[in-house]
Amino acid sequence: MSYYFTVKDSVKVVQGRVGPKANKRAKFLLDTLVKHLHAFIKEARPTMDEWNYGINFLTRTGQICNEWRQEYILLSDVLGVSMLVESLNHEKMSGETESTVLGPFYIPNAPQYEYGANICLDGKGEPVWVFGRVIDNKGRPIPGAKLEVWQANEDGFYDVQQKGIQPEMNLRGIFHSDEKGRWGFRSAYPRYYPIPFDGPVGDLLVALDRNYNRPAHLHFMVSAPGYEKLITHIFTPDCPWLADDAVFGVKESLIADFKMVDDPARAAELGLPNPFRQVEWNVVMAKA
Ligand code: BEZ
Ligand code: FE
Repeated sequence: MSYYFTVKDSVKVVQGRVGPKANKRAKFLLDTLVKHLHAFIKEARPTMDEWNYGINFLTRTGQICNEWRQEYILLSDVLGVSMLVESLNHEKMSGETESTVLGPFYIPNAPQYEYGANICLDGKGEPVWVFGRVIDNKGRPIPGAKLEVWQANEDGFYDVQQKGIQPEMNLRGIFHSDEKGRWGFRSAYPRYYPIPFDGPVGDLLVALDRNYNRPAHLHFMVSAPGYEKLITHIFTPDCPWLADDAVFGVKESLIADFKMVDDPARAAELGLPNPFRQVEWNVVMAKA
């Protein structure tokens, strides 16, 4: 084999430049990437203009990123890569709650609330009581688990997408399970919303005539000492986009039962109009 680059030996030539002090895992990941990337180029044979368009696309993807706009995560999401990595890393389940994409709208410093608090600060949307327990796969309660929740508002935007329009920290909060593993909060019935499509990822979806909506959901990140951190959603059962999620995040087990409850006493206790919607959802954690 020549030291010089040839189409035939392109993979070997590039892989052959790796030095003896290379990090083993980095070498494995990049050797594999080069192998598949060169195979893709040899099969797809982009023109020079198409190649330049691709480079420019990635440049634009970087340039539009800021503290609140994560276009690279979005690109990984719409290509199904986020869900593939996520699914391959959580294959062996024995009754635990399934995970799904994190998405770009999580922020770690949401306000901490007590059981029953209302996280819907803009008062929009249909009120909903969301509650359940954090348990292990034998049904035993996990007290003191931290639940971080976030969702879009009735207009289909997260608070961080509408600074100065929505109240800060609208529809997000941190809760802790009690001694019986119980948690609960008031929110708004989620609705579907478009992923940000005014950037390069939006251009890609338009070029492919693809849906840019996500089915209605509520995000959860649940952590407890001794258990694997769980990143998941619950989806509403009646959303028209369940079978066509722009980022492939729907798993059947995450579609929840949002019931209408007619119970004036309970409604008064919760501070909700009667009848009201509720969803009971137990979070089953996997041992670390
Ligand atoms: C989200 O659910 O917040 C989300 C996930 C992936 C891409 C865009 C948004
Ligand atoms: Fe979301």
